[in-house]
Amino acid sequence: MDLDQLAALRTPDGRAALDAATRVAGGDPLAAASALRAAGVPAGLAAAALTQAELRRRATGKFGPSAAGMFFTRPGLEQATRRVVADRRAARLRAAGVGTLADLGCGLGADALAAGRAGIRVYAIEADPLTAAMATANVAAAGLAELVTVECGDATAFDVSRVDAVFCDPARRSSGTGRRIFDPSAYSPPWDFVVGLAERTPRTVVKVAPGIDHALIPAGAEAEWVGVDGDLVEAALWCGRLAEVPRRATLLRQEPPAGKPTAPVEQLTGGGDREATVGPVRRFLHDPDPAVVRAHLVAELADRLDATLGDPDIAYLYADTPATSPFTRCLEVTDVLPFSLKRLRALLRDRGVGRVEILKRGSALTPEQLRRDLRLAGDAAASLVLTRVAGAPTVLVCQPVTG
Ligand SMILES: C[S@@+](CC[C@H](N)C(=O)[O-])C[C@H]1O[C@@H](n2cnc3c(N)ncnc32)[C@H](O)[C@@H]1O
Repeated sequence: MDLDQLAALRTPDGRAALDAATRVAGGDPLAAASALRAAGVPAGLAAAALTQAELRRRATGKFGPSAAGMFFTRPGLEQATRRVVADRRAARLRAAGVGTLADLGCGLGADALAAGRAGIRVYAIEADPLTAAMATANVAAAGLAELVTVECGDATAFDVSRVDAVFCDPARRSSGTGRRIFDPSAYSPPWDFVVGLAERTPRTVVKVAPGIDHALIPAGAEAEWVGVDGDLVEAALWCGRLAEVPRRATLLRQEPPAGKPTAPVEQLTGGGDREATVGPVRRFLHDPDPAVVRAHLVAELADRLDATLGDPDIAYLYADTPATSPFTRCLEVTDVLPFSLKRLRALLRDRGVGRVEILKRGSALTPEQLRRDLRLAGDAAASLVLTRVAGAPTVLVCQPVTG
């Protein structure tokens, strides 16, 4: 896809080609290409329309129905913030009194669009000309052209004194190979510039990989880990006046629960520097959400659940009572065995367990291999937790607690 193809897709003929491509997207690519050519769409336009229709189809998971009017590149879609996360961030910025925002490296514009929807005036800068042109088209499709302007240029040259707050989501993939970059010094804009923003502006938010090394979190910043429907999707650093607490785990849902108008937002906050108490395995096991674990908020969660760790280095919590908490999954522990394949196989055979889910923390065992080695037979189901308790390899046989 290039700028000419994007322009062609935005003409009346291009829109008709996109409509036709949308009707056949997701099926056999050769049949789809033939269908468009049979409808009189020139080959170049047909190829661009089919690529776009396929990307829109994939983008629905992140953007819902609004994906149908947006333009995407493959790397741009992979790096784009999900709508539910971007909307949440924009609402927090708006609530903090932000009226003007610079989005430095806006990509396809997911965060800029969310800020515009929240009523914030956005100056979005993007270095890649095609990505910037798509972001402009996405802003127009959302009816936000009055609030969001996209400029193709170098974000490091933007005068940040013009705005109330700055957002930066640096590229964490190589522009050449598309491979993930794990070293922050190779981010673009570079990490030094990104953390320098926090020193130059009173309100800065930086989106980072959820695996960020805690040592890289600037002093005084709030680090927030965000999960959506159990998946850890990103972390964000809220700097300067936007920092409210040292660490936060935020859990969102892509869709509201059945019968509810809105999805709840669950938040756990704390210092991120406490250790939970260690004790014996108890009747109920709590498996904390990955956002809680990455935010180092297991001790805060243990307080809420009146729970203890079974091992100082492993984030499974144990309690005498069950609890339904958005931050954990609760299992009832029926058996605790020092790990032995023979003993586990015998116990599961006695119980007629033919189906298991396998959870693990602190175990080098491979669940697929263990499942094969167990040679399961029977109608019953169980959850197996492979872990360490007080340093010893242990398997817990459990049943999920529902309700
Ligand atoms: C991770 S993406 C942003 C995604 C965006 N937040 C979204 O949700 O759609 C980072 C973008 O920054 C752009 N970029 C990298 N270095 C830049 C620079 N110095 N100036 C402007 N844009 C830059 C890249 O081209 C890429 O599109």
